[in-house]
Amino acid sequence: MAQQQPAINLKRLIKMIEMSSSIGAIPNNGLCRLALSEEDKQIREIFTNWMNEANLEVRFDDFGNIYGRRKGRSDLSPVLVGSHLDTQPNGGRFDGVLGVLTAMEAIFTLNDHGVETKRPIELVNFTNEEGARFEPPLLGSGGLAGVFDKDFVYSRQDRNGKSFEKELVRTGFLGELENRIEDIHSFIELHIEQGPILESERVSIGAVEGIKGMTWFELIVTGEGGHAGPTPMPLRKDALLAATKIITKIEEKGNVYGPDLSFTVGRMALKPNVINCIPEEVTFSLDVRHIDDAVRERFIAEIKDELQTLATEQNVQLAINKLWEVKTTHFHPQMIDQIANSAMKLGYSVKRMYSGAGHDAKYISQIAPTAMIFVPSVGGKSHVESELTLDKNIEQGANVLLDSLLQLANMDTALSHLKTT
Ligand code: HGY
Ligand code: MN
Ligand code: MN
Repeated sequence: MAQQQPAINLKRLIKMIEMSSSIGAIPNNGLCRLALSEEDKQIREIFTNWMNEANLEVRFDDFGNIYGRRKGRSDLSPVLVGSHLDTQPNGGRFDGVLGVLTAMEAIFTLNDHGVETKRPIELVNFTNEEGARFEPPLLGSGGLAGVFDKDFVYSRQDRNGKSFEKELVRTGFLGELENRIEDIHSFIELHIEQGPILESERVSIGAVEGIKGMTWFELIVTGEGGHAGPTPMPLRKDALLAATKIITKIEEKGNVYGPDLSFTVGRMALKPNVINCIPEEVTFSLDVRHIDDAVRERFIAEIKDELQTLATEQNVQLAINKLWEVKTTHFHPQMIDQIANSAMKLGYSVKRMYSGAGHDAKYISQIAPTAMIFVPSVGGKSHVESELTLDKNIEQGANVLLDSLLQLANMDTALSHLKTT
């Protein structure tokens, strides 16, 4: 008789989520827990205590990534599971957090039932997934995957000039290079969908096939400052008026590509940003995403020329600086199948889909077989205080994660590591 599949303890998991939701809480049920902030330090300490309670061997590496190792019967390469605890400044309680805490709950459940696995299992919390404080995102997982070198990561500064390195030291989470996890058998990450698809199609589980490619730019429009009163309108080189036309042109061109191309201006700064001064400089971000790398690249090439022409017409200078770019990621087919089979075995509806949001799984998929589990987001909302996933969906997702973990951690052999980008 096959061993009865243990089920997670939803009450305990909800209690951990409630504890997490109190660290960096902001009005309307939101969270502000920027990477390596005081609040991030607090939740990291709480998470470390939970891992100690579960008798995991806790360590952290030179990017501040935190690992908790659960021994296996063998010393075969471990299965890695987790996500991130940092949030957006006006973030929700579930983005990233759910992936870490469902993994924590899975470990507690295995301990409750005295379940041993062939392979060790390692929990992970990656540093600075969001890229809200230190740009670009995914610095912890990207550092581990060798995408970013340590000097680059350490040099990143927040808007107050504080460096990643100094904040890592200040929070006490600067660990050793030797503590980086090596030789990962597989990585599995549970995450909220952050979009409307699962909810609108009434599906419980997403078996995620990959992550859309994305490019981040910073555009700087330079005009001429001046007095808001006496400076004649025809003589002005108003950087903000020009920037609005540039952004409208991006929208006009982007809409031609249809709804699968997303473009977002999320961050903007004016200089001098004073009521009675003509804006002399405007700096703003542009985030472009599409599942087909060629389409994303074609759109970018097209608008670059158009925007330069427009800037000349507006008598302003335009600099377009690329900050970061990742190609579309394709996860491991066998792991995707296994997640879909787990969901069906447990009686949950499942849909294969790509992620419009970036995740640590993006970079880890470059060094190990990787896949993700999605659970529905109410109203498709995320990166806002009202972000919500219902308890029943949390429970279902956590049980699929537990089942997937058990299958992966009891595999005799390695999974063939396919090139994923
Ligand atoms: O930008 C993203 O998609 C992720 O939430 N950091
Ligand atoms: Mn996330
Ligand atoms: Mn996010």
